Amino acid sequence: MAKNFWRKLKTPILAMAPLAGLTDSPFRILVKKYGADVLYSEMASATALFYNPEETLKLLQFTSSERPYVVQLFGSKPEHFAAAVRIIEKKIKPDGIDINFGCPVKKVTKQGAGSALMANLPNSRAVLEAVLKNTKLPVSIKVRTQSGKVKLKDFLQNIADLPISALMIHGRTLAQGFNGEIDLKAIREARQYFSGIILANGGIHNYDDLAKVLSETGVDGAGIGRGALGRPWIFRELKDSKFKISPEQISRLAFRQAQLMFKQKGRAGILEMRQHLCWYVNGLAGAKKLRARMVRVESLADIKKVLSL
Ligand SMILES: Cc1cc2nc3c(=O)[nH]c(=O)nc-3n(C[C@H](O)[C@H](O)[C@H](O)COP(=O)(O)O)c2cc1C
Repeated sequence: MAKNFWRKLKTPILAMAPLAGLTDSPFRILVKKYGADVLYSEMASATALFYNPEETLKLLQFTSSERPYVVQLFGSKPEHFAAAVRIIEKKIKPDGIDINFGCPVKKVTKQGAGSALMANLPNSRAVLEAVLKNTKLPVSIKVRTQSGKVKLKDFLQNIADLPISALMIHGRTLAQGFNGEIDLKAIREARQYFSGIILANGGIHNYDDLAKVLSETGVDGAGIGRGALGRPWIFRELKDSKFKISPEQISRLAFRQAQLMFKQKGRAGILEMRQHLCWYVNGLAGAKKLRARMVRVESLADIKKVLSL
């Protein structure tokens, strides 16, 4: 067994949850700097890694400052996962592997992956057995509170004997999608069926949200998703309620992200940066006017200007 980093983390553990298309290496570098304890990759297809790995391996690249780094895979075929984790372990060398059991997107569920995999207990187990057999890295999973007829409890009982290191629970059912109340009771009850690290996820945007989730569930930490968009310093805020960041620091941080985006992705990175810039100005006076300019930036020079740097 490779070193299990999960057991070395101080609680409460705060993880940057995976957000496909958003939590790329530049973004992860920033959240790590501001206190995220674990970083998940964007989800990557086990099937793509099986057939034609090059592009997916590019998506999963990371820098040493992003450790501990967990690569998340989605798919439905145990043999694809078996090959994928071997490739990942050899070529990417992350600290852990995570399996996606929560994604509701049609393109994913129609291949029996994501939340559709959670709803299929025999195949969920077969996938996890294939993954565990083919990697020495610690394996974690990300689930919802319910998918189809399968509730979290059923899912966890079905894999109770497997050595899964960590569990992130998005506290919503598949039917809820990405909105609506988080089921804190279901998260709390998961402890009865799972002995590894448990992270609660969903709707955590500030210190009080986190405090409530941790006190009502008793879990080991939390995964932060959309709360970090345009606010990569949220992890520092969650650890220290007195932490404050100035508007100038925010502008410099946004520009740092843009520089990393340009360095790693060229012009495509500038275009991707447009949406991040818009998140940075959420809630500011004059945000509407700024956004109208932000969605048109073409270069680092444009970004500098729009950020008044
Ligand atoms: C744009 C977007 C992309 C996402 N991509 C992934 C993904 O690749 N893998 C995954 O497990 N969850 C993914 N999620 C779900 C989030 O990780 C998280 O579970 C969900 O957004 C709830 O947490 P939040 O309220 O803190 O955002 C995604 C969510 C959004 C909004």
